[in-house]
Amino acid sequence: MVLLGILPLILCQVSFVITYSQDSSPVAEFSVNVYHHLRLSENEENIIYSPLSIALALGMVELGTHGTALKEIRHAMGYESLKSGDEFQFLRNLTQAITADESQCVVKLANSLFLQTGIHFSEKVLQLMKKYFHTDIENVDFQQSAAVAEHINKWVENHTENKINNLLSSEDFDQDTRLAVINAIYFRGNWKNQFRPEHTRTFSFTKDDGNEVQILMMYQQGDFYYGEFSDGTTEAGGVYQVLEMPYEREEMSMMIVLPRQEVPLATLEPIIKPQLIDEWANSVKKQKVEVYLPRFKVEQKIDLKNQLPKLGVRKIFEEGANLAFLNDSSGNNQNMYIGKAVQKSFFEVTEEGAEGAAASGMIALTRMLVLYPQVMADHPFFFIVRNRKTGAIIFMGRIMNPEVNEVNMHDFDAL
Ligand SMILES: *[C@@H]1O[C@H](CO)[C@@H](O)[C@H](O)[C@H]1NC(C)=O
Ligand SMILES: *[C@@H]1O[C@H](CO)[C@@H](O)[C@H](O)[C@H]1NC(C)=O
Ligand SMILES: *[C@@H]1O[C@H](CO)[C@@H](O)[C@H](O)[C@H]1NC(C)=O
Repeated sequence: MVLLGILPLILCQVSFVITYSQDSSPVAEFSVNVYHHLRLSENEENIIYSPLSIALALGMVELGTHGTALKEIRHAMGYESLKSGDEFQFLRNLTQAITADESQCVVKLANSLFLQTGIHFSEKVLQLMKKYFHTDIENVDFQQSAAVAEHINKWVENHTENKINNLLSSEDFDQDTRLAVINAIYFRGNWKNQFRPEHTRTFSFTKDDGNEVQILMMYQQGDFYYGEFSDGTTEAGGVYQVLEMPYEREEMSMMIVLPRQEVPLATLEPIIKPQLIDEWANSVKKQKVEVYLPRFKVEQKIDLKNQLPKLGVRKIFEEGANLAFLNDSSGNNQNMYIGKAVQKSFFEVTEEGAEGAAASGMIALTRMLVLYPQVMADHPFFFIVRNRKTGAIIFMGRIMNPEVNEVNMHDFDAL
């Protein structure tokens, strides 16, 4: 869902956001930091990743760390406010809260650890992995790189309803590879208020470089959580809109943050902080809103081995990491480090949460008669999918270009 557009700050009160000095909850700061690093490296591209999923992968790794490596992870994740070791229960609690009701919202999280065959695991670490993360642990022979890649890819497909394919390739492994931590996440929720496919039509989306692309724009007028914000300066481009659209049962929602049309998303992005996200969530008010949101599908593969060191998690990737995944008596831990850590995320937004609703459109855009706040996401926006109870961020990303390639849109305008 998304955002809005052009208009109208006609009606509404602007809430001035005060930055709190209170500590954010564990993982929150990390989630946002990852975003800031990604936006600086992904020029003008869509972004999608799952902070929760990275947190779980790192949690698994943390079970095998000590010393510097352990300190780095605890610091980067914001676990220093928790008693040592409590972060595992914290992560387990989070997972339970999020995956509790699978009938309404589908969050599929899959954790796995692939280890070089012929090496013995530490029973203790194995048990903790299973206890806290339900980790699938398997032995593979990384020398057979093509077969391992295929095997792991199959595992991932199995756990993501076939939405995530080809996660790894044979080049991802070499003879020094000892361990692969794989984390996949797949989410699909049905909107509490679904869009009607017959209201979807082609529409121009203006990218931040000024070019226009044709997209499928969904429309509805309904009750959503909405607010207009400003930090009181022009730094973030002035007033921007926040729209929170719940999924069924309102346990999860998607929050869309949209700058004014003439303001590039890059102007707004630097202000994003965990405390601000909480502030948005606490300040939006249920009211009638006209929503224009592109249908979109985003997919991204992130090399965590590139990204995590920027956040202070370095040691686990170095040869001297001495990860303690193995049975000590074998004396093989010495050269244990993480050879590969990737995340691939897939996320899509449609009228109802299911794919395939055909569009044919008849929405008259009466921009002159604005009865309700209008959120028109016809230019780049930032979004978050979060659990409303815990505040945990399942996905975070931005849409710079929602262009739909596979749909033939030629006849919609003719209607
Ligand atoms: C996990 O949940 C239990 C039960 O709700 C709670 O007692 C415990 O404090 C939580 N632990 C952490 C670290 O959040
Ligand atoms: C290591 O292996 C030995 C022999 O198989 C076993 O007795 C011991 O419990 C194992 N230790 C751990 C930490 O798994
Ligand atoms: C994937 O699922 C199929 C069918 O359930 C199963 O036979 C296969 O072993 C699974 N593969 C992996 C790698 O988990």
